[in-house]
Amino acid sequence: MLLLLVAQLLLLLLVPAGRCLAATGLSGDDGQQFVYNGFTGANLTLDGASTVMPNGLLMLTDYTRKVKGHAVHPFPLPFRTASNDTGTVRPFSTTFVFAISSQYDDVSSDGIAFFLAASREVFSTASPGQFLGLLNEGNIGNRSARIFAVELDTFKDYELRDINDNHVGVDVDSLVSIDSANAGYYDDGIGMFQNLSLISGNPMQVWVDYDGRATEITVTMAPLGVARPKRPLLRTTVDLSGVVQNTAYVGFSSATSFFYTRHFVLGWSFAFDAPAPALNISMLPALPSTPTYTTLQSIVLSMMIVLVLALVALVSILIYICVRRQRLKYSEVREDWEAPFGSNRFSYKDLFHATKGFSDKNLLGRGGFGSVYKGVLRKTDMEVAVKRMSHDSRQGVREFIAEVASIGRLRHRNITQLLGYCRRKGELLLVYDYMKNGSLDKYLHTRNGPTLCWSQRYTIIKGVASSLLYLHEDWEQVVIHRDVKASNVLLDGKMNGRLGDFGLARIYDHETAAETTHVAGTMGYLAPELSRAGTPTPFSDVYAFGVFLLEVTCGRRPIFIDEQNNRVLLVEWVLQHHHNGSILDTVDPRLGGEFNADEVTIVLKLGLLCTYPSPNARPIMRKVMQYLDHSQPPPDLSPTYISYIMMTQMQNEGFDSHDMACSQPAMSVATLSGESSATILREGR
Ligand SMILES: *[C@@H]1O[C@H](CO)[C@@H](O)[C@H](O)[C@H]1NC(C)=O
Ligand SMILES: *[C@@H]1O[C@H](CO)[C@@H](O)[C@H](O)[C@H]1NC(C)=O
Ligand SMILES: *[C@@H]1O[C@H](CO)[C@@H](O)[C@H](O)[C@H]1NC(C)=O
Ligand SMILES: *[C@@H]1O[C@H](CO)[C@@H](O)[C@H](O)[C@H]1NC(C)=O
Ligand SMILES: *[C@@H]1O[C@H](CO)[C@@H](O)[C@H](O)[C@H]1NC(C)=O
Repeated sequence: MLLLLVAQLLLLLLVPAGRCLAATGLSGDDGQQFVYNGFTGANLTLDGASTVMPNGLLMLTDYTRKVKGHAVHPFPLPFRTASNDTGTVRPFSTTFVFAISSQYDDVSSDGIAFFLAASREVFSTASPGQFLGLLNEGNIGNRSARIFAVELDTFKDYELRDINDNHVGVDVDSLVSIDSANAGYYDDGIGMFQNLSLISGNPMQVWVDYDGRATEITVTMAPLGVARPKRPLLRTTVDLSGVVQNTAYVGFSSATSFFYTRHFVLGWSFAFDAPAPALNISMLPALPSTPTYTTLQSIVLSMMIVLVLALVALVSILIYICVRRQRLKYSEVREDWEAPFGSNRFSYKDLFHATKGFSDKNLLGRGGFGSVYKGVLRKTDMEVAVKRMSHDSRQGVREFIAEVASIGRLRHRNITQLLGYCRRKGELLLVYDYMKNGSLDKYLHTRNGPTLCWSQRYTIIKGVASSLLYLHEDWEQVVIHRDVKASNVLLDGKMNGRLGDFGLARIYDHETAAETTHVAGTMGYLAPELSRAGTPTPFSDVYAFGVFLLEVTCGRRPIFIDEQNNRVLLVEWVLQHHHNGSILDTVDPRLGGEFNADEVTIVLKLGLLCTYPSPNARPIMRKVMQYLDHSQPPPDLSPTYISYIMMTQMQNEGFDSHDMACSQPAMSVATLSGESSATILREGR
């Protein structure tokens, strides 16, 4: 129903307004002759369903069932030669173009008729339906009906003795035709009869001529555009003097009984005593294209399809954008060479969800290499720490990933287990075991924060030492940590120290090595030889471990500010106390004097031993372990520290104030010129 309304609305919109102007061909309606090329502005009396459409097309019936429609010349025409009933009926000629279109291809109900009627009463009381809107059950066949019609009948009515459902008939006061013929025409060229289908929807022209003297009527028809055939379709004797009185109405009638059919008249001309004026075909209104409904439906349908398609397109674009965004959100970088490390690989999506989208709530800390987030892997419910670092260079990534994969195979209870990695554009993510108690430096350097007793510290020291021993000697390859420091030692649930962040210094090194002379590591922990040669060795790890020992025992940073606001190097400070025989004064006051003096002495001396300026003079980790396990007598430092001081004084040149200004204790990586270790010593003094 809605579709129908839309269709009708569309029809109104679709009919071009321009047609209205061209349609009228009214000329001199003096009651003697007239011509309508389309009916815009025509003075016709319409009733029933009939209407003149905006383009001038006369529609007698619409698609409604059981309706009739008439279009009649407004005043009766003078059909007699004399002004009374006795004169002969004047000859007349008329021609019209009609079309019948059905909603169904092959069937149509009823037809259309051109008629003459003595009075309006007859046809205005006609029944809609089988009598073509001309007569009703009461007056059919009654001579006093006074009606003459040329019917174009599309329905075979047995009662009315119709010859078929596609015929032309001549009727007088009845619809039982005096004469009828199959619709068609005799082709002038080939002389053959050509059938025409009345319900084809095609416009056809009909000529009706009455010779009053011979009382003969001829009916001729042809498809629109074909010249009037010479041989008429019907020629039959009819005395109209019994039908018309002095005057008669002329017009068209139509009705529908069952099927949905529309009856159209496109043009009409009429004349007494002369051939009907020719119709100008080019001025006739256009028919709504047939079958009308189907076209409209298809228009509506195609519009709906276009709409639906547009909608679908829109939705798919949205989906595409969403998917793309989602994909971009979780996009990773994966290269062929990474295939062997597949098992070490985490998907970014998993990490994203595990860390609740790297939310600040999950942030554990920010360090020199990036931010660390706590996460819970969805599949295994496992707690992990995800280190997220920006990483722009491709250089060294390959080696690093290989290293990550091999580090992933490191198994030691004092090593933070590296579970795997993930790579995105400009970003590298490392996944570690989650350490409940965070990093050690928090316990050492947070004022009024939690602290550790000596036995805990000693356990941590031994743990870190054993992990370094494992890395340096016990594993299949020599692994150099490069960044041993308190903040890289993490504490598990039982306060065991675990070394983490392997190789990060290395990748940092790789990234910057190309253009600068940056050295990876952390200020204060850097072995002096690194600033010169730049090649890390197990001994540079030992140096950093020595600083770490002092840091843990003294509770001070490698470079700290003393009471007199001097920048002091921890190593030198402890060394001075050792020299003065007051080494136990350097012990962290937060221990409250509760510590094993032997152990503390061993650790402090070992710290100084490990930070010996000459790498080869430092103990290897196995030796360090032996000292800590008391399986070696405590280290004897007396000759060593003298050399130490002497050595530093010998190197005491080339102080670079700029470098020093930069070297804040918290600083992770710094540029060190060749002599910087010496300058740090002098500065600290
Ligand atoms: C139409 O014809 C009727 C009857 O002759 C007449 O009264 C009326 O004025 C005409 N209307 C127009 C618009 O010509
Ligand atoms: C009708 O007209 C004819 C001829 O003009 C005349 O002879 C006849 O008497 C008229 N009849 C009537 C009833 O006026
Ligand atoms: C014919 O119609 C007239 C007028 O309506 C009426 O008087 C007459 O009885 C009808 N004749 C028949 C046979 O119905
Ligand atoms: C015309 O139609 C009639 C009736 O349907 C049929 O008998 C006749 O063969 C047709 N003639 C042509 C030429 O198609
Ligand atoms: C038919 O109408 C067209 C347009 O109004 C006009 O150009 C043409 O001359 C007319 N043809 C005849 C035969 O009147």
